[in-house]
Amino acid sequence: MNIGILASGGDGAGMNYCLYNIYKKLYKHNKIFLFNRGYFGLINNDVLDFNFNYIKKHKNDGGIMIKTSRCPEFETLEGQEKALENLAKNKIDVLIVMGGNGSLKGAKELVKENINIMFIPCTIDNDVLNSEYCIGFDTACYNCASFINQVNDTMKSFNRTCIYEAMGRKCPAIAITVGNMVDADYMYVSNNCSVESCIEALRKIKEKKDAPIVILRENLIDIKYLKKEIENKLNLDVRTCIVGYLQRGGKPTKLEKNYAKKFAEKCVKEIKNKKFNQSIIVKNGFFVSEKLN
Ligand code: F6P
Repeated sequence: MNIGILASGGDGAGMNYCLYNIYKKLYKHNKIFLFNRGYFGLINNDVLDFNFNYIKKHKNDGGIMIKTSRCPEFETLEGQEKALENLAKNKIDVLIVMGGNGSLKGAKELVKENINIMFIPCTIDNDVLNSEYCIGFDTACYNCASFINQVNDTMKSFNRTCIYEAMGRKCPAIAITVGNMVDADYMYVSNNCSVESCIEALRKIKEKKDAPIVILRENLIDIKYLKKEIENKLNLDVRTCIVGYLQRGGKPTKLEKNYAKKFAEKCVKEIKNKKFNQSIIVKNGFFVSEKLN
């Protein structure tokens, strides 16, 4: 078989380990096409010539070695036609797409054009519909919590309150998980939260705790505004930290690698069985495939 692989959207630790485990199982009896920078590579027929040793060497790295992108061109008819031409030119029997919700949308467009697709959810946001887990999430939480714990040491020395902004786009998964990991005093994670309730929570603990922690999910409220409000109402010394891309980079955790390998194994199994157009998901703790439609 001719098997294409691409990564699209935000990267996540563990994607390289997943790619390695797919490649290892398939490269001897199939031709693998690694498209550079996701759907861009597909549109421009940009295929990488990595060999197995290179992929093995980078299997534990953070990021994604075949590169990723956000590709507005693929949302156009013209872009999709070019992608289809290149899939035909390379006689691709099945294309493996690694990514989040945007990438899934793109993959579904290809399914409509009779391209065989396998989808593997990869996003630190952990928000791909139907899957309990997406590659990158555990490492992102670990990185974010480690960062907060470290910063909190210096906050304690000054009796400072700190607001930490976590990634997640519109999904509160990282913020909530990290909030629990660091025992946050207030988690501002959805529109149900408010400045008033945050201030109330801090008021209750301000005499008891030397460095209160507030976790804020990105895209909800301006972090500087929240800081000013807390300072004005509670007379606390407040600092802010946007955790940012530190969450996405870095080597995968052990749990991440375990998940990444299981996603890869299930994907390879379904390809060998010619069970195409499947999303590999975690359901009730099991790695299963679900029809893409
Ligand atoms: O979707 C993953 C994610 O890391 C979000 O948590 C974040 O909002 C977004 O990507 C950042 O996107 P970009 O890498 O394009 O700045």
